[in-house]
Amino acid sequence: MEKYIINGAKKLSGEIKVSGAKNLALKILPAAILSEQDCLINNLPEIEDVQRMVEAMTDLGAKIEQKEKNQYLISTKDINKTVLKPELVKKLRASIMLTGPMLARFGEVTLAHPGGCVIGQRPIDLFLEGFQKLGAQMIENGQTYTLKATKLKGAKIILPKISVTVTENLMMAATLAQGTTIIKNAAMEPEIPALAQYLNQNGAKITGAGTPIINIEGVEKLNASEFNLIPDRIEAGTFIMLGLITNSQITIKNCQPEHLENLLYSLNKAGAKLEIGNNYIKTFPSPLKGTNIITHEYPGFPTDLQAPFTVLMTQAQGLSLIHETIFEGRLFYTDMLNQMGANIIMCDPHRVVVMGPTPLYGRNLVSPDLRAGMALILAALAAKGTTSIENIYQINRGYENIVPRLQALGADIKQI
Ligand code: EPZ
Repeated sequence: MEKYIINGAKKLSGEIKVSGAKNLALKILPAAILSEQDCLINNLPEIEDVQRMVEAMTDLGAKIEQKEKNQYLISTKDINKTVLKPELVKKLRASIMLTGPMLARFGEVTLAHPGGCVIGQRPIDLFLEGFQKLGAQMIENGQTYTLKATKLKGAKIILPKISVTVTENLMMAATLAQGTTIIKNAAMEPEIPALAQYLNQNGAKITGAGTPIINIEGVEKLNASEFNLIPDRIEAGTFIMLGLITNSQITIKNCQPEHLENLLYSLNKAGAKLEIGNNYIKTFPSPLKGTNIITHEYPGFPTDLQAPFTVLMTQAQGLSLIHETIFEGRLFYTDMLNQMGANIIMCDPHRVVVMGPTPLYGRNLVSPDLRAGMALILAALAAKGTTSIENIYQINRGYENIVPRLQALGADIKQI
């Protein structure tokens, strides 16, 4: 079993470049299915989740070729299958992003329920409801769903809950529907206007992406083109907290601070000293004080940054209430932080209270999920002694070449 070995309590220095956004890459690749033309994507992160999506699309008959590092050419004109490979859907929940484009282009798609994961149940009821509102017929066979529609029809869709991938999936499907679709209570994460920009540059007619009400006027066909992914705001935010928890001066390059305003607000409240440029952020050693956060859909505090922030608060003076409102299983990693010496009380599955600062000590850990796994790396880099982290697949899912990039900052980390 591969694992990371980390010797902590070392100051870091230098700069780290942010990769392309994972949670945009996993939508732009499926978006290529909406057109018969080839699509060229730049700044695509070389991470496990992208490789799984490439496998899922290749299994359907798409041809995806790496032209150079982080640049891929996608051709979907030869897709000849509409059943998503169950084992790939289980491994990558985001493969559900293929359903909207497949349904819109081919009129049929079959998927197995992706199942839940450690951070929560992850139901798909809102996807299925949304596609049926667009006129799809659904045939359920156990945990496998087939959606069929000769031609999707525009509809008014009210989402009872804000869901990022439901918003994106329905927006993509609606681009080729007959008539106009309105999505109300849409998610507003920055990856959504970026996806809409890609679709609009290829002939789609989407307005309102990035606001709670998105309007999509269906068109006959879509073209395809070259597209550069925006930087990964979650990676950028995590690296800022990496600099702060190791009391280091590091520069996070190629990021978009305007996508991190809620995190920056909370870090400022905690007393973090940061230099914020137009496309970089520099950290400075800062004595921190306990600060409360509540996660919320964008532009609220991102749930994907909750774990690294909680780790940071173990080194802050005083109490911090961490309220995770979106997922019910996203705080259990704090048990492992307590094993390292943290002082965290779990009030309920959505709230923990952190009492800091407490010294952290190296331990043998297992990464439970992508974001908590990366947060354990931050804890290990702040801890005295040696930490091992197993199940590193969960980390490599979302962070490109993380070991050499951290080593370049002076971190004592290796993969064995
Ligand atoms: C996206 O997940 C991201 N993943 C997640 O990032 C992120 O944590 C999440 O949005 C919230 O920001 C990708 O974009 C690939 P949701 P998503 O649907 O869309 C409920 C990471 O670490 N819901 O916005 O799956 C759901 O249970 C990942 O990069 C339904 O009830 O999350 C949750 O409570 C983790 N029915 C709420 O919506 C449905 O049919 C929000 O989840 C769908 C969702």
